[in-house]
Amino acid sequence: MLTDPVEIAEYGPGRQKAREILTTLAQIFGASKMIAVTSAQIAGVSYGNIGEAGLSFLRDWAAMGDKACVPAFMNPAAVDRELWPLVGLPEKLVEKQLQIIECLERLGVEPTLTCTPYHTVLTPKMGDHLAWSESSAVIYANSVLGARTNREGGPSALAAALTGWTPYYGLHCDENRRASIRFVVECALETEADYAALGALIGRKAGTKIPWLDNVPQPAAEPLRTSCLKALGAAMAATGAIALFHIRDWTPEAKDCPSELTETIETVEVVRSLTEVKQQLTKGAGKIDLVSLGCPHLSYEELLVIKSAIGERKFTVPVWLTTAQATRARLSREGILAAFEQAGAIVLADTCVVVTHLKELGFKAVATNSGKAATYLPSHQGVTVRFGTLEQCLKAAVSGQWQA
Ligand code: F3S
Repeated sequence: MLTDPVEIAEYGPGRQKAREILTTLAQIFGASKMIAVTSAQIAGVSYGNIGEAGLSFLRDWAAMGDKACVPAFMNPAAVDRELWPLVGLPEKLVEKQLQIIECLERLGVEPTLTCTPYHTVLTPKMGDHLAWSESSAVIYANSVLGARTNREGGPSALAAALTGWTPYYGLHCDENRRASIRFVVECALETEADYAALGALIGRKAGTKIPWLDNVPQPAAEPLRTSCLKALGAAMAATGAIALFHIRDWTPEAKDCPSELTETIETVEVVRSLTEVKQQLTKGAGKIDLVSLGCPHLSYEELLVIKSAIGERKFTVPVWLTTAQATRARLSREGILAAFEQAGAIVLADTCVVVTHLKELGFKAVATNSGKAATYLPSHQGVTVRFGTLEQCLKAAVSGQWQA
């Protein structure tokens, strides 16, 4: 018999529904108990992804009246709530999106609308148990912060938010955090895009296994160190069903107990080149009509790096820099936002290039330095992708042409 690990004063119908979802999941996955979570991060917010069926599901749940009892926050939506008229999205789609956000707010979920809550909302501590659902945030929390979360679906993360607990199985347990495939990295890693390409390659080869990485160079300074880990993990989680990786001498668990984590390794792969994976992520030379940077969402520090890389350039195609509202508000307060606007870039909050409605906006060819965006954009948005470094993206934003 599974018992609730935290005392809850009242179980209304909404919380009862949450408890049923979690109990069913516990039975499916053979969880021995429930465990308290310190936060929940809810994906499946975009109207473009969940549509009418998802909106109706959330409306019914919100009508039941219960609220989250742990900090709970939303993943990006299909629109920037402030700048959607500037972007040119149809009002009808915006209305639907706002209804989804309102339902989640009624359920007690904060409208943070970011996939990097660890930058602005809440940074989990080593060993914290979470119920997060955005794949890039999950892999970052597990691998870089040493917190513990399975790759939840939107409904199970929401159920965890309402009850404060989740079934104890998968990556919550020590024995399931060991590596089963080792990658020896022998190729050069110089830019964030190189780390993204490496992530895409590892995701494809590792599939559902937990990778252990040897010989990965650590950039000397922040924010590049964090940017590279974000890019690596997001791409890995996009091309594979991976929610945790370890890097020797770098990620926290790999520093603490390397022998325990590596004794279960069955396969060894040597990565000598990223040429082939980069060719798979990009369409080669040609015209572009949008540049997207910020998948996962950019931190304040990363935006400052981009600002300095932009310098005096003037863009001829739209450049989207996606981030959290709190970060854009800080840029605005500090008078930094204007520098991006002068170059012709737009700092968008609440949304991202993968979950918005690119087709309705008429974009056909997108340049990006994100391995995750390059993986998902062709299938999710029907656009051609040109993948490369930040510098290649900025050059293309000036000329409108991607140089292979
Ligand atoms: Fe975040 Fe959207 Fe990329 S949710 S990780 S910016 S696909």
